[in-house]
Amino acid sequence: MTAYERCRVLLRFADLIEQHNDEIAALESWDGGKPLEQSAGAEVPMAARCMRYYAGWADKIHGMVVPADGPHHVQVLREPIGVAGQIIPWNFPLLMFAWKVGPALACGNAVVLKTAEQTPLSALYVASLLHEAGLPEGVLNVVPGFGPTAGAALCSHMGVDKLAFTGSTGTGKIILELAARSNLKPVTLELGGKSPFIVMDDADVDQAVELAHRAIFFNQGQCCCAGSRTFVHESVYDEFVEKSKARAQRRVVGDPFKKGVEQGPQIDGQQFKKILGYVKSGVDSGATLVTGGDRLGSRGFYVQPTVFADVEDEMKIAKEEIFGPIQSILKFRDVGEVVRRANATQYGLAAGVFTGSLDTANAVARALRVGTVWVNCYDVFDAAIPFGGYKMSGVGREKGPYSLGNYLQTKAVVAPLRDPAWL
Ligand code: NAI
Ligand code: MG
Repeated sequence: MTAYERCRVLLRFADLIEQHNDEIAALESWDGGKPLEQSAGAEVPMAARCMRYYAGWADKIHGMVVPADGPHHVQVLREPIGVAGQIIPWNFPLLMFAWKVGPALACGNAVVLKTAEQTPLSALYVASLLHEAGLPEGVLNVVPGFGPTAGAALCSHMGVDKLAFTGSTGTGKIILELAARSNLKPVTLELGGKSPFIVMDDADVDQAVELAHRAIFFNQGQCCCAGSRTFVHESVYDEFVEKSKARAQRRVVGDPFKKGVEQGPQIDGQQFKKILGYVKSGVDSGATLVTGGDRLGSRGFYVQPTVFADVEDEMKIAKEEIFGPIQSILKFRDVGEVVRRANATQYGLAAGVFTGSLDTANAVARALRVGTVWVNCYDVFDAAIPFGGYKMSGVGREKGPYSLGNYLQTKAVVAPLRDPAWL
């Protein structure tokens, strides 16, 4: 296909996603249990936006001519990498599909995408829309299947030229190993996090309480960039804890198809058990359980919005990714201290900084070893903003122009440049 044809297919695909917004959102909530209002109002529109963003790139990818030493004409070509293997998780199935498939197709590749065990429906549905948009048979292949079988087969396959994965850090390591043992295919990874949300003494406390709440509880707490360590300055700490407790108790948990519901059930029984295990660990290690701490009701995998105060850095709940609606509030005294503590983790995905001082915001943003810093906001996403992790939160970047390099090969073509006889 020409680049312009690829652009038009992706634009038509984005239109079709918008036209089928309600069906796709319903599938997403049915499969994963997230509130319908969030699927319909955020995830599906953002996926369409991402496709349109990469449609815009399709015909703007090109190489260059390099002035090398000596009499040679040197072209640098940007070519599709080939077959991209993509493995996505269950927390944002459609959005992860968009982040991965958009740039891969814009660059002219073929894709084999494996959905998560728990959530195959939205990808299968939109794959049929992509076909309707004019993508030829066989260019996008959606394979629902289990990780250790279907996923591992994709990672080991000699015919796959590139892997992109979003999921746990443990599985990311396995994927890198499988790639190394087979054909050394390059791998990009978006992995776990333990992101700090830092509230300075000069922050707007009410705004910080609300955004800290959303930063951890959004999507049932199942976000790689969840603000899962709420660091609060000692001068506003007690007020912050009281207000966070009240906010968590106001959180509306229930049937994801009901209007006004903020939080649905966790994805499955395994995650549900893992989360309640962390609550017990928090209590056992001496953190103060401020509210919540148990399952909600007796049916379904609903977890009470839970807040812990007096959390210490070495507690398991402050170190490991819980992936549930559990807020951990930690106290700090000065800026240098909180930056050191925020960075003292194997992860480095994101951070939030709440302050009235531009100087503090700028200095702290530069000192944090994370891929995204949100200042006086959190979870602001846009197709044009790069996303990815430092340290064990990932390898490489997605979104924006940064994704394109993941799906392109670079070829140098060198030919002699001779003086013509007539010169
Ligand atoms: P996971 O990382 O094992 O699963 C994510 C994807 O990887 C799924 O499509 C799965 O089928 C695939 N996969 C699993 N094992 C594989 C293998 N050996 N080879 C190839 N592909 C494989 O995550 P899981 O088990 O669903 O959740 C465990 C924890 O991971 C969660 O509690 C959470 O802490 C974290 N997680 C982080 C996510 C993120 O967005 N960074 C998303 C999902 C989970
Ligand atoms: Mg797993």
